[in-house]
This record gives sequence, structure tokens and C-alpha cells, in this order.
Amino acid sequence: MSKESNSDEMNGGDSNSDGKSSVTVNEKILLHLKDYSSYRDATEVPKDVTQKGIANAVGILPSHTPRALKRLIRDGLVAERDGYVGGGTRKSRVYFLSDNGNQRTKRLAERIGSTTVEMRKDGKITYVQLCEINMQLRNKLSFLELVMHHGQYRYFDITRIDSGQKIVDFSTKAPRVEIFVDREDEFGTLKALAVERKVVVIFGWKGVGKTALASKYLENIRGKQSVFWYQLQPSDTFMDLLESLAEFLELMGVKTLSDYLKGGKVNMAESQLILLEALSESDTRLIFDNYSEQQGEDIVDFFSLLVNMIKDTKGIGVLITARENIPYYNWFYGKKELEREIVGELHLKGLDRESGKKIIAVKNIEEDAYKQIHQLTKGVPQLLEYIRDDSTDALKASGLFTAQEIRLMLGLKKVVRK
Ligand SMILES: Nc1ncnc2c1ncn2[C@@H]1O[C@H](COP(=O)(O)OP(=O)(O)OP(=O)(O)O)[C@@H](O)[C@H]1O
Ligand SMILES: [Mg+2]
Repeated sequence: MSKESNSDEMNGGDSNSDGKSSVTVNEKILLHLKDYSSYRDATEVPKDVTQKGIANAVGILPSHTPRALKRLIRDGLVAERDGYVGGGTRKSRVYFLSDNGNQRTKRLAERIGSTTVEMRKDGKITYVQLCEINMQLRNKLSFLELVMHHGQYRYFDITRIDSGQKIVDFSTKAPRVEIFVDREDEFGTLKALAVERKVVVIFGWKGVGKTALASKYLENIRGKQSVFWYQLQPSDTFMDLLESLAEFLELMGVKTLSDYLKGGKVNMAESQLILLEALSESDTRLIFDNYSEQQGEDIVDFFSLLVNMIKDTKGIGVLITARENIPYYNWFYGKKELEREIVGELHLKGLDRESGKKIIAVKNIEEDAYKQIHQLTKGVPQLLEYIRDDSTDALKASGLFTAQEIRLMLGLKKVVRK
């Protein structure tokens, strides 16, 4: 028998190099690889299945992985092949469970899952099965992470682990604001409202800068809170929203909503319960941009329900942007919610004269000439951008000006101080 079979012995499972955990290194590798079974035949695979990724996950030196893997391959539990890692163009050696390995790991997980562990929650100590911890944490930790945690601490402090929920950023669709002028007061109000109210709505005319302000806010909380950004379309149904939210939750390690959606028959209230339950105390901001008067009835219902249910939660905030004057039958809350301070509103107006001038970006523009432009555009940044870019068509399409006014504004832009 070769030397390498000693410390990594699978059977029995109570010998281990770190002496703290009763799960061996090889067992940890199996448990880790189990989460990546779906990539077994994929061309592109995550780096977690490379030697380095495996070493990282199970907490051993990369130089120690080849030996452990060799043994698992020899026993027919793990298979190796080449694969493209994380979108790269170079191939790396990657590892997966064989069918045999899968079955073995399933039994192993069942055995470990049924061991009794100490759980501390809200100041109380109880003894439960390890798989119960998984439910308490809403699958936030992978099975291997649970095992490793137990190996290190010997107990689970649910409250503490929960507060360390990982931050997830789901805002790649948010438009970036290149140059953002002023809005200091509005930004301050927004930040304060976001602390005090569960739901904040930014109102304003088209092009006034609602989305820009929301993305400025996003920049401000990025990395500190989990953020979800959704660009609402008139054609959206509440299922579109839920699917996107489910994807977001999955990134947070919570599969409850996606599992629920996969089950077919979706009830709106039930799905929201699952959503809020999953997010409670997670310090998450959900941003929905561009709520419009064309939103379908089920979206209106979705948000009414959200406003209704969110008031009893902790750690979740919602930010919505919307045009002014959306008819009440398409709106999702009333005076009551404002009075109860569940919802807070911020009405954006055009930029003041000095700020607007920065957008027009004409050096030495004559003061009176600019004053007229500002009056006609009411300082709406989008309109000022159109003028800056000589976009006659866009100005026409806005439906706000006569052809004469457009010619006038574009002419005024050229009036500069000598
Ligand atoms: N404070 C600002 N500083 C500089 N540019 C701004 C500012 N606010 C808005 N803009 C610019 O004005 C344009 C319109 O802004 P934005 O898209 O945020 O408006 P909106 O209110 O969301 O409009 P809509 O109702 O059409 O969605 C964008 O090009 C944006 O970059
Ligand atoms: Mg917008």
C-alpha cells in the first residue's frame, strides 16, 4: 500500500490533518465538487473546479491538491478533463465527480447532515441536525461551508452568520452617470428618506434626471449593501420581475424563490412572502427604474402588495423612479402609506441656472441668452443635452417646443460674450 493512503483515508472519516474536524480533506473535496456537477459536460466551467479553486474551497495548500485528487481519481470517485475556465481562452485541468463519486458523496452528505450540532440563536442554545442549520440559514452557506464552519467553531451562531450575508450586486443594467452635476440637496434628501422610509419614489418629468439620481445613489451604496436594479418596461408582467428577483436571490445563495417558481402555479402574495422572508435583515436595496403609466395591472398589484408587506420587514428598502402625474388607477399606494411614513416621495425639478449651464457646456455663453434657454427648458438636463448636441429632431420629438422655439434656442446657444 502506498504512503499516501494514510491520512486521507475515506472510511471512518474521523482522521484529519487539522485535528479539529471529523471530515477528511478528501471528503471535503467530494462535497465541494458536488455543487458543480451541473458543469460536468460544459465547455466553460467555473474556476472552482480547478486545482487552485479546489484548494481554496477546502482550505489546503494548492501544492497538496494533486495528491488528494490522484487518490480520488484512482478510487473512481473523481474524473478529470480539460476545460475553459471563466471565459478564458486557455484550457485548464478540471475535476468532477464520477457517477460513483456522486452517489458516494450523496451518502456522505446524508450522514454528515444528520449529525447533531449546537445551534445558538437569539441567545438560546439548542441541538439540531446539521441539515436544519442549512434551513435556518436559508441555504446561505454551501454544504461544505457548513462543514468547515463546524470544524472551526464547533457550533453555529445563526444570528451572527446571518448578519454577515454576502453582498450581491445585481445592477449591471443600471446606466452609468458620466458627469453628474450638483443635485446636492436632492441627493441629501434621498439618502435621508432611504434611511427613514421603506419605499422611496423619485418623481419627475421625462429627462429631468430621475434615473441619473438613482444611479448616483447606487454608486453610493455599492459594496455596502446588496443591490438589485430593474429597468421596468411597459410590457413587463410580474413574472418577469419575479424571475429576475429569483436570479438575484440565487446569487445571494438563496434558492427558495427560484424553487417556488419552478414548481409552476405562482401566487403573487406567496411569492412576495418568500421574497421578503429571504431578504429580511439582509440590508438590501431593490431599485426599480422607470415605473410608467403604461404598467400592466399585475405590476400595479405587485407593487401595492410589496408596499403593504414590506412595512413589517427589517433591512430591505425599495427605490422607484416614476414620471409625474401617473393616474391613480395605475398607482400602487395612497395617502395612508405616506402618512404612516412607509413611503417617502422626492419630486425632482429641473437644474438651477448655474448647473444647467454646465450641461450646455458653451464657454462664455451670453448671460441673457442662456437665461432664455433655461426658461424654455426649465433646466431639464436632457433638453439641455439636446441643445448642446444640436439635436433638432430630438427636440422636435419631445413635443414641447414649436419649430420656431427650437431654432431660437439653437441660435441663442451661439450668442457668446466677447
Ligand atoms: N445631475 C445631472 N448632471 C448631469 N447630467 C444629468 C443629470 N441628471 C440627468 N442628466 C442627464 O440627462 C439625461 C436624462 O436623465 P435621466 O435619464 O436620468 O432622466 P429621467 O428622469 O430618468 O428620464 P425618463 O423619465 O425619460 O426616464 C441623461 O443623459 C443624464 O445623463
Ligand atoms: Mg429614467
